Amino acid sequence: MKTVVLLAGPAAIAAAVEALRSGEVVGLPTETVYGLAADALNPDAVIKIFEAKERPAFNPLIVHLPDRSWLERLALIPTSERELVETIAGAFWPGPLTMVLPRTEEVPDIVAAGLATVAVRVSAHPVLRDVLQALGRPLAAPSANRFGRISPTAAAHVRDELDGRIPLIIDGGATSHGIESTIVAVRNSRIELLRRGPVTAEQLREFDEVLELGHRSIEAPGQLPSHYAPRSRLVLVDEASAFRGDRSRAGLLAWRSVPAGEKFAAALVLSANGDLREAATNLFRSMRELDALQLEMIVAEAVPGEGIAEAIMDRLRRAAS
Ligand code: TXA
Ligand code: MG
Repeated sequence: MKTVVLLAGPAAIAAAVEALRSGEVVGLPTETVYGLAADALNPDAVIKIFEAKERPAFNPLIVHLPDRSWLERLALIPTSERELVETIAGAFWPGPLTMVLPRTEEVPDIVAAGLATVAVRVSAHPVLRDVLQALGRPLAAPSANRFGRISPTAAAHVRDELDGRIPLIIDGGATSHGIESTIVAVRNSRIELLRRGPVTAEQLREFDEVLELGHRSIEAPGQLPSHYAPRSRLVLVDEASAFRGDRSRAGLLAWRSVPAGEKFAAALVLSANGDLREAATNLFRSMRELDALQLEMIVAEAVPGEGIAEAIMDRLRRAAS
């Protein structure tokens, strides 16, 4: 199969909608990472996502809604949780937040991987929004990488991952957040944080109690310990100076700066100003760039702090595992 990449615009949107209507998968930008989208209500189309990504079928997909009115059609919100769900949707949608809720019968089993719940979000990305509006149906879309690999933050990354496996990619430029959406479940009148992301626990705490689930108890099947894996081995260190191996065969993923005298084969800085949002935006692209050098090792410095820093550390730990 030949993979076509179209620059975002009316013609590209129309091509994406046509492909999705005919049951095809399309690589599309969101504000977090690029997604591999298919009509969420068409199981035959959704299967193609699993095939292209080589994703295990036990791993459920996030459903992107055209608008909030679709929430009621796909999710069964218990009366006791309604107020909190509405509040969270009102505060963070459209945006980088995914909610896990009990699902209705309209959600195909394959999308939910047999779970009784569905993960839903409303994206703020204009390209995805335009496609959803024109299509008038929700889209199932996981990150557009092969299973276990680094999430794509640019159209070229999607091509690197899925060239020849999907018919179409829409290039909407680099994504703004750079890491995947925050995932929460609203249960027992509180917010359970299932995956850290651009919306922080602190932001969520304004609305209710937040239960921060540790790695082990995370139920999202995709939250496997090894994920975001570059081809080169990734090791996590507190500071570059703590690395004891051969620097001539290692690339450094530095937090704020490359210390003078450090002779790594290559080095990239996540954020010279120590800006966590900038660091998140640069994270996956930098990992990909260092990986492309085919060095023996990528040495990543720990990013200190809470909120986005924890979301970044979560990705780095999984990449190192
Ligand atoms: O930012 C994002 O969320 C991106 C963009 C494309 O929307 N999507 C994304 O999808 O990261 P994916 O498939 O790479 O990660 C979705 C995660 C997986 O860990 C999956 O197991 C979890 O969400 N998930 C999906 N449905 C779930 C459910 N019903 N209950 C618990 N976890 C669920
Ligand atoms: Mg993913």
